[in-house]
Amino acid sequence: MAPYRIRIFGDPVLKRRAEEVTEIDGRIARLAEDMHITMKEAHGLGLAAPQVGVSRRLFVYEIGNSGPRTLVNPVITERDGEWEHEEGCLSVPELFFWVTRPQRVHVSGYDLDGREVSIEAEELEATLYQHEVDHLDGHLILELLDDDQRKQAMREVRQRAVTGGPGSRAPAPRAPGTRAPGTQVPGPRGPAAGTGEGTASQR
Ligand code: NI
Repeated sequence: MAPYRIRIFGDPVLKRRAEEVTEIDGRIARLAEDMHITMKEAHGLGLAAPQVGVSRRLFVYEIGNSGPRTLVNPVITERDGEWEHEEGCLSVPELFFWVTRPQRVHVSGYDLDGREVSIEAEELEATLYQHEVDHLDGHLILELLDDDQRKQAMREVRQRAVTGGPGSRAPAPRAPGTRAPGTQVPGPRGPAAGTGEGTASQR
């Protein structure tokens, strides 16, 4: 069983600006480890501490063959270009949206050994960093949608709350044709697809 329950849209911790990590100690390492497990079990690519109810500035992720990684006190220092893609969030389960974000970013922060990290990333990886830093600033993907998209998404979220209960960990059954117009959901999902935090399902 995952060490943490993932907080779902509507939980106030997701709207709070997370606090800086002042000391990278054993507690932070343990938190990161438990977050990795939680993320993997949810089939996510990234997970920010507020999503497990901890209002601290760090997130975990795994992209390609990177293995588990953690970024503490991350700061995006440069943004460049434009990239449109399908993006999902473990805190807004089962919904995917077309979102436009900067294509390239420079992010810096610290790893779990307290070493300074500086990363140039683009496209999928750049999106992941932006998505997770947004979480640390109290922002959700829903805020990037236009009004119509957001209303449709809210409707779906509420409908799920009635049928499955918010925070229900089991994937909500999706009847054909229930997709909100204006939201884009990746095609048929194979077992490997899952809810990709920070990105659409693997394609
Ligand atoms: Ni997210």
